Amino acid sequence: MAPTRPARPSAVPLIPTGDEGPRADASEAKGLGETRLGRLEGCADRFRSAQAGMSRVRWGMIGCGAVTEVKSGPGLYKADRSSLLAVTSIDAAMTASFAERHHVPRTYDTVAGLLADPDLDAVYIATPPASHRPLALEVARAGKHVYVEKPMALRFGECQEIIDACDAAGVTLFVAYYRRAMPRFLQVRSWIEEGAIGEVRTVRAVQHQPPAPEDLSPETLPWRLKPEVAGGGKFLDMAIHTIDILDFLFGPVTGVQGIASNQGGLYEVEDTVNAVWRHESGVQGYGSWCYVAGEGQDQVEIVGSKGRIEMEFFSDRPLRLITAGSVREVDIANPAHVQQPFIQTIVDELTGTGRCPGDAASAARASRFMDAVLADYRREKGF
Ligand SMILES: NC(=O)c1ccc[n+]([C@@H]2O[C@H](COP(=O)([O-])OP(=O)(O)OC[C@H]3O[C@@H](n4cnc5c(N)ncnc54)[C@H](O)[C@@H]3O)[C@@H](O)[C@H]2O)c1
Repeated sequence: MAPTRPARPSAVPLIPTGDEGPRADASEAKGLGETRLGRLEGCADRFRSAQAGMSRVRWGMIGCGAVTEVKSGPGLYKADRSSLLAVTSIDAAMTASFAERHHVPRTYDTVAGLLADPDLDAVYIATPPASHRPLALEVARAGKHVYVEKPMALRFGECQEIIDACDAAGVTLFVAYYRRAMPRFLQVRSWIEEGAIGEVRTVRAVQHQPPAPEDLSPETLPWRLKPEVAGGGKFLDMAIHTIDILDFLFGPVTGVQGIASNQGGLYEVEDTVNAVWRHESGVQGYGSWCYVAGEGQDQVEIVGSKGRIEMEFFSDRPLRLITAGSVREVDIANPAHVQQPFIQTIVDELTGTGRCPGDAASAARASRFMDAVLADYRREKGF
């Protein structure tokens, strides 16, 4: 039997937005003009599965699109003590093609069919965000552990529903904030923990991009820019990874203020966002995200009392540690399948041999940050 381990604390600090449904404990910070810390009760006990004594994880997968081809799908069958047993999607030809290319032994025409497979221990949901909540609830009800793509759901309130459903079903919930297990981000975390830049004071995140060709016409607009499918634009789709890593490095965000607008007029969702925030640890942050810029930029800069760290967040260019006038560049290649190290930690946790560095609460906090920044914009636009 696998070892039993202590459950994580169930009270989780989050940012209320006023847009999250009845479960949230929201309070406005008087005078600061920022949204402040609240508490969320009732996160899944993540160690029940370890107590159940599972020795390997047999995965089912819902959706077999872009993210599954290289980033995640192979990670499910290449991780130790892990196999990808079954796949389904709404496109039967796509399902069959994925199964053939990746040697997945079972395919199903429907989600219900896959969930009825008694040999599956856990199900990875890799579909567009609007389907995450209903699918996660179905997977939980079927008694399978849930690994859902980011963002966990369209809004924080939906994340809470998923957390509650997993709790009620006694299954463990994981969300694909996989950078928490990627070597380059672990290097940054080590530098911070070792005090290489002293006390961290402030962090700056910038992502600016020109529009992609498919953004230019309603006929070619990707689902990522449709509010009913994605819940927001590229800010929600991509910047949420950065916000999650900053939570990993500096702890929960306790207050945030943001401005979102659409300046390019290419689509309905936001294309430009600026925000300032603070972490529970005292670190302050500010960010700028613009997806209708003339020139691209991708930068995270962490400033401490003795130096700073500079990196590109979405590329694998060298990290730069700048202290006392010296610059050290460290080149850390990304894994072939970027989700594989994170998937390994999920498998380790489910089999009682380790612990995943992200959890449902941290993933819900990322969604809540996004809700807070986008609240006014969504209200104005009516979605
Ligand atoms: N973690 C990452 O780095 C990363 C990268 C890209 C995408 N994603 C996330 O992964 C998810 C999927 O993105 P993608 O780019 O692979 O999308 P995609 O459009 O390429 O593929 C979506 C897949 O889901 C299937 N599908 C859609 N609705 C379904 C439903 N209701 N039931 C069953 N199957 C359904 C489609 O048939 C398709 O196979 C999104 O949440 C996205 O944000 C994450």
